[in-house]
Amino acid sequence: MKKILYVLALVAAVCACGKKKHAERHIATYLDLSAPIEERVEDALSRMTTEEKVKMLHAQSKFSSAGVERLGIPEVWCTDGPHGIRPEVLWDEWNQAGWTNDSCTAYPALTCLAASWDREMAELYGNCIGEEARYRKKDVLLGPGVNICRTPLNGRNFEYMGEDPFLAGEMVVPYVKGVQENGVAACVKHFAVNNQETKRHSTNSIVDDRTMYEIYLPAFKAAVQKGGAWAIMGSYNLYNGQYNCHNKKLLCDILKDEWGFDGVVISDWGGCRNDDEPITNGLDMEFGTWTNGLQGAASNGYDAYHMANPYLERIRDGRVGTTELDDKVRRILRLIFRTSMAPERHFGRFTCPEHYEAARKIAAEGTVLLKNDGVLPLENPGKILVVGENAIKKMVVGGGSSSLKTRYEVTPLEALQEEFGENVIYERGYVGSTETSYNNVSTGENLEETRSAEELIAAAVAAAEQADLIVFVGGLNKSKNQDNEGSDRLQLTLPYGQQEVIEALAATGKKIVAVNISGSPVAMPWADKVNALVQGWYGGTESGHGLADVLTGRVNPSGRLPFTIPCSLEDGPLKTERQYPGVIEEGKDKVQEYYDEGVFIGYRWYATQGIATQFPFGYGLSYTTFEISNLKATRSRVGRLGEFKVKLTVKNTGDRDGAEVVQVYVAPPESPVARPVRELKGFAKVYLKAGESRQISIPLSYQDLCYFDAEAHKWTAAPGEYTILAGDSSDHLPVSTTIKAV
Ligand code: GLC
Repeated sequence: MKKILYVLALVAAVCACGKKKHAERHIATYLDLSAPIEERVEDALSRMTTEEKVKMLHAQSKFSSAGVERLGIPEVWCTDGPHGIRPEVLWDEWNQAGWTNDSCTAYPALTCLAASWDREMAELYGNCIGEEARYRKKDVLLGPGVNICRTPLNGRNFEYMGEDPFLAGEMVVPYVKGVQENGVAACVKHFAVNNQETKRHSTNSIVDDRTMYEIYLPAFKAAVQKGGAWAIMGSYNLYNGQYNCHNKKLLCDILKDEWGFDGVVISDWGGCRNDDEPITNGLDMEFGTWTNGLQGAASNGYDAYHMANPYLERIRDGRVGTTELDDKVRRILRLIFRTSMAPERHFGRFTCPEHYEAARKIAAEGTVLLKNDGVLPLENPGKILVVGENAIKKMVVGGGSSSLKTRYEVTPLEALQEEFGENVIYERGYVGSTETSYNNVSTGENLEETRSAEELIAAAVAAAEQADLIVFVGGLNKSKNQDNEGSDRLQLTLPYGQQEVIEALAATGKKIVAVNISGSPVAMPWADKVNALVQGWYGGTESGHGLADVLTGRVNPSGRLPFTIPCSLEDGPLKTERQYPGVIEEGKDKVQEYYDEGVFIGYRWYATQGIATQFPFGYGLSYTTFEISNLKATRSRVGRLGEFKVKLTVKNTGDRDGAEVVQVYVAPPESPVARPVRELKGFAKVYLKAGESRQISIPLSYQDLCYFDAEAHKWTAAPGEYTILAGDSSDHLPVSTTIKAV
């Protein structure tokens, strides 16, 4: 018996010891990938010193911030941009580091994605770019941008998703989800009312609440509340007198309090402008600050950041507490536990065939057919003369921080030569920009030209003699003042004398297919001189193939304009200098810009004023035809805050498979405030075989009937009858019905 007891005691002792060892081996909660994230956050926070916390709040290099080596908490690495993963840079440089394995897939610019009106394309886009960020070991993607196209002249319209907050909101959500599925944070930018590049560091946007809530905030709100964005980037400009990177109303009252944002607010690079406001006004991470005289790579430049030593001194001497500090660090830890320290994070993929395929598909899906007398699709075009610098100019490089380095970029000319071989001849027609590099990334092209404008036109006209068809490829090119970060455009019309080229070519009597490549609206008074007209975009690595897919009919075009193409700037809502680009006022050192037009921008302006446009918001043609009918709106739930279902039938009445973008607009009754005659509140992209018809349902909610009552600070809908209109563009809505708001 004694023996048994002895053995049992021995076994118990061994187990206890083992347990103790096991207990010693128990990992800290913050390192336990299976622990709830908030427990990990609190555990890590409790282990950090004040110095370690402050170090996390600001950059340590151009695109990274410190972790906590002692605790095994990694640094946070950010990367541009919205269209692809920026090439690696040296520690404190903007120029590329010259790596040989960081040439990414360049996806189409976001105006192209918006023009696809296809939520699945947005998810595909986000997922692919997120995989590439993951593979390049980046934790935060500095994009997408969702600033609203308030003026066609804004230099960065090409990085954004058009003039309508509903479209931008619907397209940003799947993009954000797609990115974050990879354990990479999307950092939605530039928050907020950063609607121009002119004096972007010193312009104070003066905007009333209703306009903010109805136009300039919704896409960001959707990204946060529906997309679950883990990061937001504050913008350079000021809003109602305070810099946006530490704007209390924007970051604390709206973003974090009203919307419940639990992620990180990151400054734009150099957007943090003083020591005190960032502490209390919602900034969490400070990047790119132009330190006080310690420019560039000075070793201790980063310690001079506003949220570095100056903050530490304030804490140490008791001027500020640590409540805000802990909130900031909680958010950064949450970001880290969602990204680099997340469970089940895969390794991503980089420049794989599927990514190139996705880039090509999005480029084609976003292409908008604006006019076609039957010359498209190109079936047996005979000899084609391609004219225009945009047929050969590689556009992935340039444009500012969204510039990329890719292994290759297919130009429109190359794609057409692949398609039609010797039957394609080329003439430049005009000289736009001979720039071929940015941040030490070069396209390798030589665009130098010695001929005069007249000689170039003459050569193109002469060449037209031997051609059966002309394809003109022009537009803008992401160089200064031509869709470019840091500079707005100076005109709505085509630059570089392109209109003269088009007119000279039209005079030859040859059929012309004109392709305008741009990221913002371009005036097209010459549209009547061409037989077909296509709005193309900065299509990325596969841009040429995407365009050729549409021109040849391999892809039936289904893009719709994400912005209005006006006949002239003068027709637009920005009539005064104080509206744009803003004015210097007595005693004020910042440019004051007044959003006097309120909610009336884009089609909200043109439709309400009854001003004819060149091509309206939402417009686009197909190689087939569609019919929309049987519109019904039924209340799907009882009560004032009911949901509505809009049902209708779409039929492909042509002989070719294709996709229609059914758009649903709401027209309000008389209201206490001036409201646009109609606003986009629903859409669906419907792919139909020739002859096929389908009933679709588009949800509407009471919210979709509302305007923002600034006085009461709430959404409200005047009682009465609301007209629901459906069609294929903002000014072609053939079917309608009504619903009542009580
Ligand atoms: C730039 C841009 C921003 C970019 C950042 C880092 O100035 O405004 O979009 O992500 O700096 O390059």
